[in-house]
Amino acid sequence: MVEAAMRMRPEDDMTAAPARSEESGAQVDIDHVSIEFPKPRGRGTVVAVQDVSVTIRKGEKFVILGPSGCGKSTLLTAIGGFIPVTGGEIRVGGEAVRKPSMKRILVFQDFGQLLPWRTVTSNVTWAIRKRWPKMNDAEAQERARHYVELVGLGAQADQYPNTLSGGQKQRGAIARAFAVKPEILLMDEPFGALDAINREKMQFELNRLWSAEEEKVTIAFVTHDVNEAVHLGHRIMVMSRGPGRLREMVDNPYVGSPPHDARALQLVEDLRELLKDAKT
Ligand SMILES: Nc1ncnc2c1ncn2[C@@H]1O[C@H](COP(=O)(O)OP(=O)(O)OP(=O)(O)O)[C@@H](O)[C@H]1O
Ligand SMILES: [Mg+2]
Repeated sequence: MVEAAMRMRPEDDMTAAPARSEESGAQVDIDHVSIEFPKPRGRGTVVAVQDVSVTIRKGEKFVILGPSGCGKSTLLTAIGGFIPVTGGEIRVGGEAVRKPSMKRILVFQDFGQLLPWRTVTSNVTWAIRKRWPKMNDAEAQERARHYVELVGLGAQADQYPNTLSGGQKQRGAIARAFAVKPEILLMDEPFGALDAINREKMQFELNRLWSAEEEKVTIAFVTHDVNEAVHLGHRIMVMSRGPGRLREMVDNPYVGSPPHDARALQLVEDLRELLKDAKT
């Protein structure tokens, strides 16, 4: 249950000290990847992702954008190693992904990701200890506190998840994810269940958090919200439905721009048009 809540598992060799620089922010090669699921009663297969080839660069914020059901979550969970690909290969830092790892953390929409019997700080410390079992207590505590402060949860550090708002719970999950220095942070509509104001606030916060890290975390972020994609993504991969293919890769020079920036708004409009197309 614990493992399911975090969607990550330690790897056998995960006993070393905190990440060496080459461990974090690895490049992800998605190489002719197809993913199929069996249909019920042996009636063939559903093709969720078809022949997708794309590279996620070390240290970038990469957005996967597409209509509902186009295969975004499927692709993201395959990058995490939670489901197998049925064709092609996914490599992280040159190594084929075959199983989940503490180095690839998934944060998703659900507000129930923190362990309910641990405080905010203790949730983060717990993950740090799993990631680096040999780290001493004082160092783990200090690292946890640093990330709890960084996400703005300093005042709630000793509270249990059931006493937090939805947005605060997501901040906690994000603090935990950043604290274990993943080589890639996988985010599946993490702000999807927040109201519009909090959602926008969290987008700013995520940009700020990413910028604050000396060594930039590689983030793959799934959304069907075009504004969110333009606010967050250095590059935006637009997927088409039926079955999920790469429709277009879009470079986004307006990442992090204020929401009223005219050029960013034009890109939002262009992407909306692309998505309309992608639905057919
Ligand atoms: N475990 C599964 N078994 C069978 N089919 C699945 C499974 N998971 C996903 N699918 C199918 O694969 C396709 C892609 O699903 P996926 O969840 O990746 O879409 P998505 O783009 O994340 O959609 P949304 O924006 O609604 O979250 C859908 O047709 C879905 O029904
Ligand atoms: Mg999804």
